[in-house]
Amino acid sequence: METTLILVKPDGVQRGLVGEIIGRLERKGLRIAGLKMVHVNEELANKHYGEHVGKPFFDSLVKFITSSPLVAMALEGENAVEVARNLMGSTNPKEAAPGTIRGDYGLTIGMNLIHGSDSLESARRELSIFFEGLEITEYDRAIDQWIIE
Ligand code: RTP
Ligand code: MG
Repeated sequence: METTLILVKPDGVQRGLVGEIIGRLERKGLRIAGLKMVHVNEELANKHYGEHVGKPFFDSLVKFITSSPLVAMALEGENAVEVARNLMGSTNPKEAAPGTIRGDYGLTIGMNLIHGSDSLESARRELSIFFEGLEITEYDRAIDQWIIE
């Protein structure tokens, strides 16, 4: 079982799409293991997007992600990293397939609504940035017997 970090980015919160976006991930069968709203500061943004330091879009990315609160979520399930990335769609909403979150709701690359960890290694690193131990909860769901074979 994998756990991935999902962020409903500031544009998703401002546009009132938190429920819609979380709902899509929930309906897929993934389990919410941790959830909170965070107004990210520059230090946290630099940590989270450290791999992009020095790239031409880095400053605008940090400005955007710190501009308004976001919703951070630890999401668990079989192949959760890949499954969540597929539901999100391509980074640039212009190219993201219809039916994906970015494909259905986004227009431009800087405001693409959602973040999802791109590997299990990134997920571990990013989850530790946004959540402390007790904020990620293990629990059973009765419905899982109808989702996971
Ligand atoms: P994210 O980390 O936010 O989930 O997005 P991602 O993996 O699909 O894309 P990534 O390459 O990690 O880029 C992080 C965010 O930076 C912005 N970006 N802008 N102008 C550009 O060429 C460009 N490239 C990336 C996007 O907002 C992307 O989500
Ligand atoms: Mg990324």
